[in-house]
Amino acid sequence: MATASPSELKTGANPEHASRQAMTNVTAVASLRMRLWNRAQEMMAVELTLISYDPNLTVEPSSGRIRHGVYGASMSLPASSCPITHARPEDLVALRHAVLRPTLPIDSARFPGDLEPTTIHLCARADSVVVACASFMAIPFAGRDAYQLRGMATDPSIRGTGVGARLLAHGSGLVAARGIDLLWCNARCSAVGFYRKQGWTVVSPEFDIPTAGPHVKMTAEPRR
Ligand SMILES: CC(C)(COP(=O)(O)OP(=O)(O)OC[C@H]1O[C@@H](n2cnc3c(N)ncnc32)[C@H](O)[C@@H]1OP(=O)(O)O)[C@@H](O)C(=O)NCCC(=O)NCCS
Repeated sequence: MATASPSELKTGANPEHASRQAMTNVTAVASLRMRLWNRAQEMMAVELTLISYDPNLTVEPSSGRIRHGVYGASMSLPASSCPITHARPEDLVALRHAVLRPTLPIDSARFPGDLEPTTIHLCARADSVVVACASFMAIPFAGRDAYQLRGMATDPSIRGTGVGARLLAHGSGLVAARGIDLLWCNARCSAVGFYRKQGWTVVSPEFDIPTAGPHVKMTAEPRR
């Protein structure tokens, strides 16, 4: 086989070598494109993880599907399929703040007990975005070992799709698995109907929490 001189390679005077060089260039460009694409995907994944609350979320009432437009991308999935996962407390702060403490500083959405090793943080995600959350903290009630439900919140755009009930059932199962037979919470009066539907009972007179309005204490037996 003939060997091309450097000047032939440069000018493309040797067709065989010019064609081989072109193939090498195409492969290098394809490989560079692949690396850039992988890097872009990694960066998007990191960014999606950092965005824990997406105000663009909306549900199409007719289909019960969630759509959101992070980065202009349009994705959709059935609301009932939002997977429930364990979460880091920091993942929940934005949604807690937006739903439960919108007029207070963001730190008001960080709770004492968030970092206790016994605390269970759960969330439901739609395309990685946290759309519902609940935390369960080992705090006794009426002298009994118990878990307190705190920070129960569902993004307004997917309320009524069953995600809150699924979160509660999941947490209840995890608490029961720890041998605990009492769940309790300070329930907003506006949410009492929701808790009742999940089998909870009102066990106190109404009382007021200055920053959050009227509440009652409610309890339930955790079920696996
Ligand atoms: C309360 C809340 C968490 C419920 O979450 P959700 O995801 O909408 O609840 P679900 O879709 O799983 O609802 C389950 C059932 O409860 C009903 N329900 C939901 N919220 C209700 C409410 N506030 N009052 C009465 N019923 C309610 C639903 O209609 C549904 O009924 P169904 O089983 O007959 O269909 C949500 O409305 C929310 O974030 N509210 C604002 C914050 C808040 O009050 N948190 C509780 C603090 S104590």
